[in-house]
Amino acid sequence: MMKVLVTGASGNVGSYVTRELVKLKEPVVAAGTNIQKLSDLFGNQVETVYFDFQDKTTFDKALEGVDRVFLMRPPHLGKPEDLYPIIDAVKAHNIKLVTFLSLMGVENNPIPPHHKIEKYIEKLEIPYAHVRPGFFMQNLSGIHSTEIREENKIFIPAGRSKTSFIDAADIGLATAVLLHDPEKYKNTAHTITGPEALDYFEVAEILSKVTRRKITYTKPGYLKYRNYYIKKRGLDKAYVNVTVALYFMTRMGTAKEITNGFYELTYRKPRTFEEFSKDNLKYFT
Ligand SMILES: NC(=O)c1ccc[n+]([C@@H]2O[C@H](COP(=O)([O-])OP(=O)(O)OC[C@H]3O[C@@H](n4cnc5c(N)ncnc54)[C@H](OP(=O)(O)O)[C@@H]3O)[C@@H](O)[C@H]2O)c1
Repeated sequence: MMKVLVTGASGNVGSYVTRELVKLKEPVVAAGTNIQKLSDLFGNQVETVYFDFQDKTTFDKALEGVDRVFLMRPPHLGKPEDLYPIIDAVKAHNIKLVTFLSLMGVENNPIPPHHKIEKYIEKLEIPYAHVRPGFFMQNLSGIHSTEIREENKIFIPAGRSKTSFIDAADIGLATAVLLHDPEKYKNTAHTITGPEALDYFEVAEILSKVTRRKITYTKPGYLKYRNYYIKKRGLDKAYVNVTVALYFMTRMGTAKEITNGFYELTYRKPRTFEEFSKDNLKYFT
């Protein structure tokens, strides 16, 4: 039986893609630069392979016996061109479907790298199913949880805009459905979101309720946010710049749409932010 290669398998979405594929009895090759992390996560449920987007010599081994690929862009790889070598390698193999973890709205917005990456996959005529999710709930429990835990504040430059947050677990489930039926979903794109659009004042209210602490949305401007994340938090500049562009888009209203995409693929309702924060309380306390 041919295998599914999951890139970013230790990441927010890739880890759920892997788990959901295992539930569907698909043979998975979990890929990444940290094999130890992968075996800690999945034990012997999957094969693991050392794979580095920035080292072509790791591609052939990763693609051995594989006929479907979950492709993601590590956040620190800011240029679309960073993904072209692996896409070229995928083209050279007999791949039935590539599900690329893209971003809601990129079909109309050439600024985020995902736009060009989607186009490149299409240009090479690789059978594709683009997954275009809204913002992840995991942004709050992950990267932004430091300020929530230590200062009871949400420090994100999103103004008063609304976001239809989705749980990465739901993205993983929807993606596994696509990879499980490559013929059916060949050359399709799926915008998947959570069930409601919230502004960050509402997010703060839900987190306050769930944690029983007063958590405030401080609504920082772009410059304050950029300085803080680069200088104080020491995060990669390219990564922070991409997020600034994304929050700029968000303020233009590009993150608030609610779609039926998740239900159409899974026949389930997507999880709410309140359900998510209850299940992930440990990251906020
Ligand atoms: N956050 C959001 O709200 C949101 C919304 C829509 C779309 N997206 C998109 O989703 C993507 C991020 O997905 P995620 O949050 O699941 O990722 P993530 O949790 O940040 O994980 C990054 C993954 O990339 C792997 N990785 C890093 N450098 C690598 C390299 N050089 N070669 C191979 N693997 C490497 C890491 O594994 P190792 O450590 O093992 O290498 C890790 O598994 C981005 O493209 C982002 O734009 C995000």
